[in-house]
Amino acid sequence: MNATRHGYARSVAGQILVTGGTGYIGSHTVVALLEDGHDVVIVDDLSNSSERAVDAITSITGRRPVFVRADVCDAERLDAVFAAGPVDAVLHFAARKSVAESVRDPDGYERVNVGGLRTLVDTMQRHDVHRLVFSSSCTVYGEPDHVPVDEDAPLRAVNPYGETKLAGERLLGDVAAGGGWSVVLLRYFNPIGAHPSGAIGEDPHGIPDNLVPYVMQVAAGRLAHLSVYGGDYPTRDGTCIRDYLHVVDLAEGHLAALDALDRLGPGCRAFNLGTGVGTTVLEVVAAAERAVGHPIPHRVVGRRPGDAAAVWADPARAEAELGWRARRDIDTMCADHWRWQSSHPEGFTG
Ligand SMILES: NC(=O)c1ccc[n+]([C@@H]2O[C@H](COP(=O)([O-])OP(=O)(O)OC[C@H]3O[C@@H](n4cnc5c(N)ncnc54)[C@H](O)[C@@H]3O)[C@@H](O)[C@H]2O)c1
Repeated sequence: MNATRHGYARSVAGQILVTGGTGYIGSHTVVALLEDGHDVVIVDDLSNSSERAVDAITSITGRRPVFVRADVCDAERLDAVFAAGPVDAVLHFAARKSVAESVRDPDGYERVNVGGLRTLVDTMQRHDVHRLVFSSSCTVYGEPDHVPVDEDAPLRAVNPYGETKLAGERLLGDVAAGGGWSVVLLRYFNPIGAHPSGAIGEDPHGIPDNLVPYVMQVAAGRLAHLSVYGGDYPTRDGTCIRDYLHVVDLAEGHLAALDALDRLGPGCRAFNLGTGVGTTVLEVVAAAERAVGHPIPHRVVGRRPGDAAAVWADPARAEAELGWRARRDIDTMCADHWRWQSSHPEGFTG
């Protein structure tokens, strides 16, 4: 057993399967895994990413992960991946993630996000692999009754995407209750930023859904201005508060979860990954302006239905049990996001 950067003995020491590993969070996590000495095989159907992420990961780390283009709903292809080499553990990122799209296509979201997970779990079962880290989301808390929100808060889905994440958590809870499985559910808050090299980052197709990618495209002159939805919330400047988290901190959270799988023993456990610090929309815009060095056109408009006023994490459980804590602040997040955005104005396809 090797010591890890988290100070715990490493309990997993072989090939890690990363589904969705060419995507935004997956690619940063693959970098962290390779730098930590793991061997990695990525399975991704490239439905929301580019194979060029594999080259970028290689240029950052000096090591090339195995890449298999496949759909996680395809049991035969998954079987072949497990048969090709021993897989010690799986990090499951592959999913569709747009709330708006999930409202238009709930069945498609169910098929990939829940059906794909079921196919993966069945395949792992057949190959005797029982260690899994699952990408969940703070969306499973809906509009929380109080903040900061901890893992014991009531779970409720407020849109079809959220329903798929809740269904995934429940599926894995049932699987672990059957015995022999170690599962960690990571409930991410709002990941932003990019690897400090600027070589990988979020590559949204079309007009971004999320605040920071949108702000950065306004900063780059690709979009005219930002609409800030609601200036009359009961917050310090009237705009919504969220818990923004650097994607590299998030990637490190996966390493900590992987290290913890055996130490924590069989079962299914949920952890918030957030900073514990809430930032308003206007504070994000100000940080982005500091990063880009010029004003970013924005105007406050009416509220958008369904937006909670303030959501931020209580990350104490992750610190106590995973030995993980977010370290990077909002200025670092925006500076790193901008480095990626300004060097890849069209993402990987440019
Ligand atoms: N980005 C966020 O704000 C956020 C917040 C909370 C949770 N999450 C979850 O984290 C995970 C990763 O999110 P991300 O932001 O990196 O998204 P992303 O879209 O950048 O990455 C997801 C990857 O999965 C791949 N994929 C999608 N469907 C697939 C399929 N059927 N088979 C194989 N590959 C498939 C995509 O091509 C993409 O590379 C998702 O499960 C998402 O729901 C994301």
